[in-house]
Amino acid sequence: ESVVPFHGRHQAGITTRVQQHLYFASFDMTSTATREDLKSLLADWTDAAARLTQGREVSPEGATGGGPYKPPDDTGEALGLEANALTLTFGFGPTLFAANRFGLESKRPKELVDLPSFAFDLLEDRFSGGDLCIQACADDPQVAVHAIRNLSRIAFGRAQVRWTQLGYGRTSTTSKSQSTPRNLFGFKDGTANVFSNDDADLGRWVWADGSDQAWMNGGTFLVARKIQMLIESWDRVRLEEQEAIVGRDKARGAPLSGGSEFTEPDFDVVSTAARGPAIPADSHVRLAHPERNGGARMLRRGYNFVEGNNDLGQLNAGLFFLAFVRSPEQFIGVQRSLAQDALNEYIRHIGSAIFAVPGGIRTGESVGSGLF
Ligand code: HEM
Repeated sequence: ESVVPFHGRHQAGITTRVQQHLYFASFDMTSTATREDLKSLLADWTDAAARLTQGREVSPEGATGGGPYKPPDDTGEALGLEANALTLTFGFGPTLFAANRFGLESKRPKELVDLPSFAFDLLEDRFSGGDLCIQACADDPQVAVHAIRNLSRIAFGRAQVRWTQLGYGRTSTTSKSQSTPRNLFGFKDGTANVFSNDDADLGRWVWADGSDQAWMNGGTFLVARKIQMLIESWDRVRLEEQEAIVGRDKARGAPLSGGSEFTEPDFDVVSTAARGPAIPADSHVRLAHPERNGGARMLRRGYNFVEGNNDLGQLNAGLFFLAFVRSPEQFIGVQRSLAQDALNEYIRHIGSAIFAVPGGIRTGESVGSGLF
């Protein structure tokens, strides 16, 4: 579908068919912003988002209808591009609820705290945290960038961009009718995801109904991790070892225990060639699998990124990992298991953020209206 409804019980951009492109922005409220500023900002963002996601200009005057004597409301680069399945998903970081800021201490979901530090973390402030976030996904990158650019302009004086992330190429799927894409290590990614047609799994692992905050009904928690991938090192690893590290075969994405892409991995199968379990104990899939993590699952919806080369000529590239979970504990548990992951030699987590994503927006309401 090229126009995704903005209103509903859940925000769009979570179970929505994963679009090809991402532009993600984290914002901080300005130091002088008041509770009223926050409230009005969320109302203005909601109006603008409802228009943009329908493929319209950011305001009725738009890019050219405001007359020649003022800068246009809409920056104009998406004129003629249509909606391209644009979704805009809003979230609130733990700092928004801090004491002496906006009077929201009692509205903080108790699970919304900074993530603990994990083995191998090399986090940088400039890729981490934020009071607010907007995830823009679309099938045309210019449409996603236009949306964030215009929402940032609306925020001027109330909130400012803290960091952004451009992602191309989905590394995930939320529907088996969509083919499984590949990440920059060349492996199919998203095979064992939580799928949008499985209401039982979504209810159990994604929607945060029953959180201590009523405004989280129909909402979820979003974990964002900027993960650098050491591409050149990986590219020198022989195929057999790459497959052992992931736990799946590269061509088809089938588990090394046999079968095809969607066959459940069988961790008891022994391989004579590998002189041990067919899916090695330190492989990514084995350690991330629900069986090893008290059943915990998550809806992954990440994107590849490439940001030029570093001083040594190596690619600055990786995975912008995004996961939607009913409780951050699901991510924390799996990420702790991954301390043993053979993949760690080839990846570095350099950015981290967590956001509470409120439930869907009803017609006439603003995102986060339940906060006030
Ligand atoms: C599965 C790659 C980071 C959680 C997979 C698969 C690949 C992969 C190729 C197998 C296909 C699939 O089921 O999607 C990567 C790469 C990463 C990365 C290249 C880093 C750059 C993470 C992180 C987490 C995670 C940080 C969460 C803490 C999972 C889970 C599965 C999975 C839950 C499904 C396991 C199962 O049920 O079989 N990943 N992953 N991954 N990954 Fe990752």
